[in-house]
Amino acid sequence: MTRKIIIDTDPGQDDALAIMLALASPELEVLGITAVAGNVPLPLTQVNARKICELAGRNDVRVFAGAGKPLMRPLITAEHVHGKTGLDGPVLPEPVMLLEEQHAVDFILDTLQTEDAGSVTLCALGPLTNIAQVLIRAPELASKIQEIVLMGGGFFEGGNITPTAEFNIYVDPEAAQLVLKSGVPVVIHPLDVTHKALTTAARIERFRAMKSRCGDACVALLEFFERFDEEKYGSDGGPLHDPNVIAYILRPELYGWRKCNVEVETANELTLGMTVVDWWGVTDRAKNAIYVRDIDDEGFFDLLIERIATLP
Ligand code: RIB
Ligand code: CA
Repeated sequence: MTRKIIIDTDPGQDDALAIMLALASPELEVLGITAVAGNVPLPLTQVNARKICELAGRNDVRVFAGAGKPLMRPLITAEHVHGKTGLDGPVLPEPVMLLEEQHAVDFILDTLQTEDAGSVTLCALGPLTNIAQVLIRAPELASKIQEIVLMGGGFFEGGNITPTAEFNIYVDPEAAQLVLKSGVPVVIHPLDVTHKALTTAARIERFRAMKSRCGDACVALLEFFERFDEEKYGSDGGPLHDPNVIAYILRPELYGWRKCNVEVETANELTLGMTVVDWWGVTDRAKNAIYVRDIDDEGFFDLLIERIATLP
């Protein structure tokens, strides 16, 4: 029985590896990929999503364009991390496959209406604007979503775009708060876990050893992407964020977590976008999210490398 997922994404080098992992995993049926503005503006993220599908030999996957800006705020992007294309590193050809006409939010709504209740998982790899718009337009469909598994937030690790906020949440904090208040089962992969998944030199060599189109692209993507965090953290390799969302769905036993209350700062400028995590249960706030904090990083990279090695 395959698991049906929709990947909402702002590619992004780490998004690219997450998408490749999903496309290389027969346990998953990728119903569609929905692009959102984030790392770079929407005109680039929707092209990048199609470039990645074609790189993986999957021009059959449907790619949709969604929100070009956050619910209530101007867009903030991260070219300083991802480069001006958002997918700097490899030279990838312009996509031939067409972008779907339908808006991403309409696609997700239609999918939730037609698929069996509780059979579709939303994998969120960027700002949560598209998913928040789904919940705003059809709150009655929230109960039909099996789970929202997202990369975002941070608490023990602090932030990466401000001292207290992680980028995906910071770009659209109102969208994140709406998702966390929606009642949909939410699984959060924050910086607290992704910072334990480092693209060390040895791991990059395992991608190079694939001697494949996708393996070579992963080397170029990772070597570009990691430079920013290696310099900031002085580590051997940078944290690999988004593929953890897909790896969790495939092999949840690789992770350690706790159900707790998570809420988002949406008012105070100093801590805007901060995910406030009641890890120690000191309040009686609803335990509204599974908050992932631990990882078997060797097992994660073994899975990621084993699967991407099956791609062209
Ligand atoms: O903070 C890391 C997150 O922001 C990742 O999803 C990365 O792709 C960027 O979107
Ligand atoms: Ca992302």
